[in-house]
Amino acid sequence: MRDSYGREITYLRVSVTELCNLRCRYCMPAEGICKREHEEMLSEEEIVLAIETAASLGITKLRITGGEPLVKKNIVSICEKAAKVPGIRELCLTTNGTLLPQLAGPLKKAGVDRLNISLDTLDREKYRYITRLGELDQAIAGIEAALSVGFERIKLNAVLIGGFNDDEIPRLAELTRTWPVDLRFIEMMPMYDGGDFSAGSFIPCDTVLQKLPGLVEEPRDGGVARLYRLPGAQGRIGLISPLSSHFCGECNRIRLTADGKLKPCLHGREEFSVKGLDAEGMREQFVKAILSKPAWHGELSYTQRSRSGRNMNRIGG
Ligand code: GTP
Ligand code: 5AD
Ligand code: SF4
Repeated sequence: MRDSYGREITYLRVSVTELCNLRCRYCMPAEGICKREHEEMLSEEEIVLAIETAASLGITKLRITGGEPLVKKNIVSICEKAAKVPGIRELCLTTNGTLLPQLAGPLKKAGVDRLNISLDTLDREKYRYITRLGELDQAIAGIEAALSVGFERIKLNAVLIGGFNDDEIPRLAELTRTWPVDLRFIEMMPMYDGGDFSAGSFIPCDTVLQKLPGLVEEPRDGGVARLYRLPGAQGRIGLISPLSSHFCGECNRIRLTADGKLKPCLHGREEFSVKGLDAEGMREQFVKAILSKPAWHGELSYTQRSRSGRNMNRIGG
């Protein structure tokens, strides 16, 4: 279905949990979040019904997110059911990768087509710092597990943070030679009001072009990243620049949070609840949400933070 600005909405991002086994400093507070009542969150049946409803309105691409989707006990079952929904042509999942050693095989079998995996640094100490709880070796083992069970077109996501990983841009980019994966550098978005990073830590994606002068531009693939390649590399380098040049004009997505709220825009306050509704009720809410998509998210910077009212872990990116 088209929104009121003529954009075809074909991509649904479904967050299946707000919880995470890590605490990335740009995403959530150190103390995590208080575990919400089970009844407040969407059940597996409701998630599947919402996906069916979305598919009937023209959604063809689905991305499962979190929090960390792999901490959800029934994640394999959710993916199995989502993959079977008529009309869903591509089932993707975004993860921090640390649980992939156990779950890559079952997810592939369940019908997940593609994985995006977060990796902000290749230094063990820095990985512990940025994730507050994580071990780099587990994330690397997760990426290798995903490759070994046959996942293709894997994308690695690195959030750019000045003074933290800008010195690692060349080393991270080299991963596209080591593995057949894309590496995407993402501008850090000012989501979390009390977050650890301020304007001084923001670096625009163009820094990557300055540090890697040999990059050769490639055609876009319908996603939000500008694409490049290091000569001879197996995978591509992507630049996602939500702050320095927003891509709202081509936005094709809508989001469903783990507590059952449809969000027309990542950075907007508006939400439409589908919790507890039947198919018809859900359909009405989807239509309202799609028609409420704003032309753009409005000014976004470190002085003009996101109006979302949620941290990233409670939206799913
Ligand atoms: P592909 O399907 O592989 O293109 O994935 P994706 O880029 O849509 O998803 P992913 O979960 O890997 O997100 C990558 C980054 O893009 C994250 O930092 C997201 O928060 C950000 N992102 C995704 N969608 C939007 C959007 O609509 N607006 C903005 N500003 N950022 C977005
Ligand atoms: N800005 C940009 N990207 C973010 N992510 C989480 N928080 C932020 C933020 N504040 C990224 C994660 C993950 C993806 C879903 O969103 O690194 O790869
Ligand atoms: Fe967890 Fe992903 Fe947020 Fe890191 S960015 S805390 S891995 S949800």
